[in-house]
Amino acid sequence: MTNAKHKKLFIKTWGCQMNVYDSNRMADVLAPLGYKPVDTPEDADMVILNTCHIREKATDKVFSELGRLREHMEDKKAKGGRMLMAVAGCVAQAEGDFIMQRAPYVDMVFGPQTYHELPQMVMKATGERVVNTDMPSDSKFDHLPQENDNQGVTAFLSIQEGCDKFCTFCVVPYTRGAEYSRNIKGISEEAKKLVDVGAREITLLGQNVNAYHGEDAQGRTVGLGGLIAALAEIDGLERIRYTTSHPRDMDQELIDAHKDIPKLMPFLHLPIQSGSDRILKAMNRQHTADTYRDIIADIKKARPDIAMSSDFIVGFPGESDEDFEDTMQIVRDVTYAYAYSFKYSPRPGTPAANMAGQIHDKVKIERIMRLQALLNEQQLDFNNKTVGKTVPVLFDRKGVKDGQLHGRTPYNQAIHVKAPERLFGQVVMAEVTEGNSNSLTGNVAIF
Ligand code: SAH
Ligand code: SF4
Ligand code: F3S
Repeated sequence: MTNAKHKKLFIKTWGCQMNVYDSNRMADVLAPLGYKPVDTPEDADMVILNTCHIREKATDKVFSELGRLREHMEDKKAKGGRMLMAVAGCVAQAEGDFIMQRAPYVDMVFGPQTYHELPQMVMKATGERVVNTDMPSDSKFDHLPQENDNQGVTAFLSIQEGCDKFCTFCVVPYTRGAEYSRNIKGISEEAKKLVDVGAREITLLGQNVNAYHGEDAQGRTVGLGGLIAALAEIDGLERIRYTTSHPRDMDQELIDAHKDIPKLMPFLHLPIQSGSDRILKAMNRQHTADTYRDIIADIKKARPDIAMSSDFIVGFPGESDEDFEDTMQIVRDVTYAYAYSFKYSPRPGTPAANMAGQIHDKVKIERIMRLQALLNEQQLDFNNKTVGKTVPVLFDRKGVKDGQLHGRTPYNQAIHVKAPERLFGQVVMAEVTEGNSNSLTGNVAIF
């Protein structure tokens, strides 16, 4: 039996960290209506699928998930209850009407800019089906409750959303809308709250996080470097990270922040996508392989031990063997701590989907396997190089084995350390004793 005061809310999240953040906000905004998050969809009163549209398979996954959930809906109905079914996120934004047609049992479809309207939508949906893919001019950030649940030792905080770059392969400018930055005051208050409830590390999020430009108390416009400087003043906050950055927005203020602000971790996720200038141009990336190399050189001057990460797309339309070799070369030149690589996936409505020279899947597979082999080798090398060193580790959760804690090095490596539970939430010096491609093992050096 459903308790009228406590309704069960199940949210499943795909895609980027902004979606993870948004899912938490949706739970917050529904809390006053009596909804409480649960871990399984069985018997839920409301299910929200927070979706991602970045590559093909994601959409298919949404439909197969809906198919599975339908059984739970039927079960609930048979027991005389009702499960509200909602699709949110980027697939909802891009394919709202299609979802309603193909899955007529879905009650609500709504895009990323409408989450603050969720309570009204839920109330309406108990009577009728709802589609809301508006992009209201007032920001959802002005209306959503501030982060108030405890995300734990490491927390996410969205500071920027949307994108005006229009890379020719990417759906984000269409699903998330124009670039928008929150003001510093709201971000600082939210960061302080997170720290009050236990966060020691905050990752600042945005689709284009280093395009951030917010107003400070004096009305001056401040970039990401300035925002990080302001947040670094918060007592109890030990570590700051940010993701995802665009090479074009890597300004001097941000590079200097890596030199001057010890709380800013020596790690940079800076996607390049391709090492070929011809392809970068066709992608509308607005940078060349050499301007990217120059940025890396500058950042290494500011913070010599910085660990680099990136995203790559292989098999973009027109990519020749030579273009692909340029990508392999930039990987060898930069050397990454880890990186993500994807086969190009044509997205409806994006310019690249209609470009000549689409690459056969067989070629994409061959290329991605070569690229991933090189990236894996570099990742293992990077981890092995840490062995024997003593590094500060922030313990953020229990380890898999008893008597172990899981933590992160400044370079974002996962590390398992034999350590007493009381060190949870603290930054502790640990000696790295072993490395493999995904994680490290270590011992507490001093405590
Ligand atoms: N805003 C970030 C990336 C957002 S999407 C940036 O500009 O770097 C995350 C990654 O997905 C991209 O960096 C890209 O490598 C990949 N991606 C985006 N669209 C894609 C597509 N159509 N096919 C394959 N990979 C894609
Ligand atoms: Fe997509 Fe390019 Fe914007 Fe990144 S910068 S979100 S890849 S359009
Ligand atoms: Fe996916 Fe939307 Fe994020 S398309 S990657 S959930 S911005």
